[in-house]
Amino acid sequence: MTQEDLFKNLIAHAKEYGFIFPSSEIYDGLGAVYDYGQLGVELKNNIKRYWWDAMVRLHDNIVGIDSAIFMHPRIWEASGHVGAFNDPLIDNKDSKKRYRADVLLEEYVAKIEEKIEKEVEKGRKKFGEAFDEVQFRATNPNVLRNAQKAEEVRARMAAALNANDLADMRQLIIDCEIACPVSGSRNWTEVRQFNLMFSTQMGSVSEEANVIYLRPETAQGIFVNFLNVQKTGRMKIPFGIAQIGKAFRNEIVARQFIFRMREFEQMEMQFFVRPGEEMKWYEYWKEARLRWHKSLGLGDAKYRFHNHEKLAHYANAAADIEFEFPFGFKELEGIHSRTDFDLRRHQQFSGKRLQFFDPETNESYVPYVVETSIGLDRTILAVLSAAYAEEKLESGEERVVMRIPAVLAPIKLAVLPLVKKDGLPEKAREIMNELKFDFNCQYDEKDSIGKRYRRQDAIGTPYCITIDHQSLEDNCVTIRERDSMQQERVPIATLRTIVDDLVSWRKWLSKIQ
Ligand code: GAP
Repeated sequence: MTQEDLFKNLIAHAKEYGFIFPSSEIYDGLGAVYDYGQLGVELKNNIKRYWWDAMVRLHDNIVGIDSAIFMHPRIWEASGHVGAFNDPLIDNKDSKKRYRADVLLEEYVAKIEEKIEKEVEKGRKKFGEAFDEVQFRATNPNVLRNAQKAEEVRARMAAALNANDLADMRQLIIDCEIACPVSGSRNWTEVRQFNLMFSTQMGSVSEEANVIYLRPETAQGIFVNFLNVQKTGRMKIPFGIAQIGKAFRNEIVARQFIFRMREFEQMEMQFFVRPGEEMKWYEYWKEARLRWHKSLGLGDAKYRFHNHEKLAHYANAAADIEFEFPFGFKELEGIHSRTDFDLRRHQQFSGKRLQFFDPETNESYVPYVVETSIGLDRTILAVLSAAYAEEKLESGEERVVMRIPAVLAPIKLAVLPLVKKDGLPEKAREIMNELKFDFNCQYDEKDSIGKRYRRQDAIGTPYCITIDHQSLEDNCVTIRERDSMQQERVPIATLRTIVDDLVSWRKWLSKIQ
């Protein structure tokens, strides 16, 4: 099965089992907006906790806040978002479809790279065991010609983006003979900058109302509270402020399920440091964040760093942690060295001093900031796509299993009476009523035990226990593990320890340190 088919199946599965629904579905949906269902919200809350505990609880110099989504409109002028938070857009005059100019060019380069890979595969088949891939890539004329072409397009696009040369972006699209995927024509408009912020009005009468923006990042709520937190929390540099919350962007190319949404959630941390020490902390946080990702056990090879060539208006260094989604390696988290840009600009625009008096150096300064910014929805997509598997069992049966890391699994334990009579449901309820204070448990008595196991596999429940007639006599149950499907008979009194050993926050979080 291709990755594309697997991804389609995953999207259908996420809906069928109550993880993620298209928003406003009964009205045919709303583009790039999604709702989390009964299991999706549990998974989401667990990821939030895994991040929050790793950042806030385990660092005594990081605290959290929850700032409002609505903020003073001047904030977005100060931060540069009103002037510079743009995407370069181009329209096809025949289909009237709108595209991101940089995405059209990136897709063009990706197609050239696909040709290179096909050429390499041809070589591999032709030369068999004797195939030397490095030499082939360095000498094959088709590979070399295409690699040079890809590099030229990439370099020209980066130069045009950096210089904000929209005319050259358009010329590059024309020079590459890129056609509209819908109309097939090359009848393009000029490239224009399009601001990604949503705006609305605050106030009762529209003439009097102020235009305000839905925040495109949670970070600014942290910057404008820098002094409040520093003073009331008696924080000393270096220290961090963390926040989880909604962000909104009017994305034009919004697709790939919950990868690129118009309403999404970020988990951000701004780490305030002494000027001149930012690169040390930038490297520190790159490694610390990668460790956090890897601790989830989705596969170390699925992560890589991508250093930015084109820097955002506020950064002097930036890297992405990319994850191998079913559609390739893509950004999951950004680590940015944001200099003193934001605090300095807010100082200038608000007229309020945003400085720290450093008792060690006897100096006041505007701190520098290293930011870690991870998309919550993208993390959910990373977990789901790595977890989803369609398996053929030795018995010939098939199962869909979600190998969700146990600490994040929405339901930790399914409680299943073998039959719906003879006192077994009552015994099962008794166990469930005891364990539900420790773990999210689910009770299920419908259908055969085999079907019930499949249902729990499909939602990623690490353990199922079955209560049978003997349980009434010996106070033991059969416990079944999701991944190995191994079953064991254990005393009811040991259940809490067994499940806790697999799902305990302490055990998982201690891997990060
Ligand atoms: N405060 C810095 C900032 O917002 P960003 O790289 O634009 O930086 C950070 O966004 C993270 O937010 C990304 O790595 C991604 O995981 C997530 N993100 C950004 N745009 C998104 C979108 N439209 N849909 C879902 N997640 C998004």
